[in-house]
Amino acid sequence: MLSENNGVLHIDGISVEKIAEDYGTPCYVMSEDHIRSVCKLYKGAFDKFYEGKGMPLYASKAFSACEIYRIVNEEGFGVDVVSGGELYTALKAGFPASKIYFHGNNKTSDELKMAVECGVGRIVVDNKEELHMLNKIAGKHGKVAEISFRIKPGIDAHTHDFIKTGQIDSKFGVALENGEAFDIIQEASALNNVKVVGIHCHIGSQIFDSDPFELAAEVMLNFANEVRSKLGITITELNLGGGFGIKYIAEHNPKAYDEYMRLVFAKVKAVCEEKDFPLPFILVEPGRSVVAESGITLYTVGSVKEIKDVRTYVSVDGGMNDNPRYALYKAPYSADIATKLGQPKDKIVTIAGRACESGDLIQEDIALQDPKAGDILVVYATGAYNYSMASNYNRVPRPPVIMTNNGKARVIIKRETYEDIIKNDVL
Ligand code: LLP
Repeated sequence: MLSENNGVLHIDGISVEKIAEDYGTPCYVMSEDHIRSVCKLYKGAFDKFYEGKGMPLYASKAFSACEIYRIVNEEGFGVDVVSGGELYTALKAGFPASKIYFHGNNKTSDELKMAVECGVGRIVVDNKEELHMLNKIAGKHGKVAEISFRIKPGIDAHTHDFIKTGQIDSKFGVALENGEAFDIIQEASALNNVKVVGIHCHIGSQIFDSDPFELAAEVMLNFANEVRSKLGITITELNLGGGFGIKYIAEHNPKAYDEYMRLVFAKVKAVCEEKDFPLPFILVEPGRSVVAESGITLYTVGSVKEIKDVRTYVSVDGGMNDNPRYALYKAPYSADIATKLGQPKDKIVTIAGRACESGDLIQEDIALQDPKAGDILVVYATGAYNYSMASNYNRVPRPPVIMTNNGKARVIIKRETYEDIIKNDVL
């Protein structure tokens, strides 16, 4: 949790000057307290508004590391993984396989084997080729894999095009409107080594409005009802994906996360009652909202380049290597000079990274307190899709992740070294 003391930013009671001194910059810092409090909101909502008949899954693509799997496990979450690498990390952290949901639009046979062997809770099947490959692999292992299907419900969630995945023109899943979704379930019902349990959709990311989620629940339940009446299969699990928005900048106003849940559960109950459909076990898969606001990134300002009548570049010791989201999506962020919080933000600057790339910017034309070389610059809400999307471009080592809790800081991911950078090179 963030606070201010004498103009200096603190996280969980520790000054960022101390963190920068102890661990160096750039570094990511994440508040454990904050992550746990968001988890409790989601988990509590299931107990309060849905009689505990469901489970939130943490979408670990937002930030995958052993420690986060341990934390969300303690908070009663399951997890969504989308690759062998995320699955491996979760298992290494001791995460119970039965609470792992395995996603992905083109899982490899090795990944499916790994998932079947360790006994993940669900495999969310994306397409027919995968369905048959999984049936074969499960058969070889003498197992029946419990599956769910990734379905495109055709909902426009009014978000940035790059991260909108619910519409028919998407590489993810099978569509409702052209009958693909119905067909694949029918086909699966004839196979011996898979068992149809659920349906899944994910309508987009960074969504503030609750209407698209309620609509998705309704569309999916109508489909489940059709499957029941035409195929005699009762879907018992409804997974509504993630995508709940977070506050990157002052204008962003997400609802409290338990409020989204309350509204969605109310819709599910209403539709089930109307159709006389048994209440399904519900899953949601928040990623960003669990970790984004818990995280900040600390940088040191290297140079302040004032180009008269053009712009002022403030160069920091990180950039698109540790946060590619502005370069990729023009994603908005807020920032401060972390030791000058009380001072007026009267300089309009562009924060630039140090990669050999003109597009390596963290933010353009943003108001900042007077920046000077050596200052610590903080970028807020970097806990999601920053470390997990970081790269070694220009052979830059990835920064460490420091976790704070109640006045204490600890390293949960070490800073990479130059040795790490060449560890796969054949010397
Ligand atoms: N479930 C599924 C099936 C998903 O595809 C995603 C995100 C989530 C859950 C989690 O969504 P969240 O709650 O985090 O919004 N790299 C992009 C985000 C891509 C999200 C892709 N899928 C970014 O930096 O904004």
